Amino acid sequence: MTELPFDNSTRFAGKRVHLGICGSIACYRAADLLRAWRKLNIHVSATITESAQRFVSPMLFKSLGAMPVYESMFAPDEDVFAHLEPGQHAHAMVVAPTSADTLARLAHGNASDMLAAQALAFDGPLIIAPAMNPRMWDNSAVKANVAVLRERGAHIVAPGHGEAACGDTGFGRMADLPEIFLAVLRALSPQDMKGRKALVTAGPTREPWDGFRYWSNPSSGLMGASLAVCAFLRGAEVTALCGPINVTGALFLPDEVRRCAVESAREMFDAAQTLWPRMDMGIFAAAVADFSPQSIGQKKFKKSESPEGFTLAFHPNPDILETLAHSRKSEQKVLGFAAETVSTMQELLPMAAAKLKRKKADVLAANRVNEPAAGFCAPTNSVAVVDSRGREEIWPMQSKADVAWDLCSWLSQF
Ligand code: PMT
Repeated sequence: MTELPFDNSTRFAGKRVHLGICGSIACYRAADLLRAWRKLNIHVSATITESAQRFVSPMLFKSLGAMPVYESMFAPDEDVFAHLEPGQHAHAMVVAPTSADTLARLAHGNASDMLAAQALAFDGPLIIAPAMNPRMWDNSAVKANVAVLRERGAHIVAPGHGEAACGDTGFGRMADLPEIFLAVLRALSPQDMKGRKALVTAGPTREPWDGFRYWSNPSSGLMGASLAVCAFLRGAEVTALCGPINVTGALFLPDEVRRCAVESAREMFDAAQTLWPRMDMGIFAAAVADFSPQSIGQKKFKKSESPEGFTLAFHPNPDILETLAHSRKSEQKVLGFAAETVSTMQELLPMAAAKLKRKKADVLAANRVNEPAAGFCAPTNSVAVVDSRGREEIWPMQSKADVAWDLCSWLSQF
């Protein structure tokens, strides 16, 4: 299974999701969703409609850890109140894939099969991921049903564009798994950042010195992307200002996160300055080049042009975090990082405190970039965190998703 963002978080353990699966060629993809939620120690129960059972066996979902798995309303050994059970115990319900038929049942409050009855008796967050032929998706009856469900608060993870199994092309394919996966995690997350606009910087910058080559650093963008996803999960409206990173797999950003791609420190600075006045908080995780080389031209510099070697002059770049934090309105909150090379975590605390003060941040997380399991490129991180109220802690090594989660908790208290 492909890597998904946040699929190594421990913050959702013990939650329960009820997964409905309808008859569609996309049924088999629900198995990957189930595995991804199980990896987070989320308890998953499932209902497989009779049509879905023509495509996949309930045994597949049982084997992957779903419990219980409901197959029909009147199965001989089914509890008489099984149609009420998910409504009593699950924290979120997701129907993926949702067929046109189930969409209609849900929109009209029809309880004629187990899944529709369970949905009717469920008053928590409902996530719907439709999958059908593009002409069916385009039909006004389907559009009306979707509108009714949206209006009632269901979250529709809209289908994507592409070629359907029948050969027709258009919108109708079930949305990408990370979109559905994250929509459910969002429904399980506290909404302590709801209504707030967050700017997150992520990744490295590239500083060109000829037309094709550049000076940079090994930042993968994972720490920044984890913070962007985390702020999104907790209800913020997020703009991710990314240096050159490949936003797939663990670095995936959902459609609802606005992404601005830049290359150089100067471009990141200019974009951040433009965006900042509309923001409620800034999270600065990018590894911005402190210096840029003087460019020596737009074409490829040839070895023959300087066989003895050559020297480049470097000029300093503006500090994005420092500039924005110094010019902020009092209600704008700021979280920064510090990349340090030291031998112990203890040494990080005074460095973090000094940087927090100098850059005027509210919260600052310092990481040891000379520790292979932390800092650049690692899936994990260990940080020393300080805030402007004098709080300081050293956190153990954990996934970047969990570091992001705890940093958002600190920031949302300001
Ligand atoms: O991307 P990953 O592979 O996941 O790696 C994560 C990380 C190591 C890049 C991340 O955890 C991290 O430490 N980011 C900050 C790196 C850095 O530039 O640290 P610094 O100590 O040089 O800068 C301090 C702060 O000022 C940072 O918040 C930085 O974003 C900001 N800064 C620095 C220079 C500059 N010109 N503009 C800035 O905004």
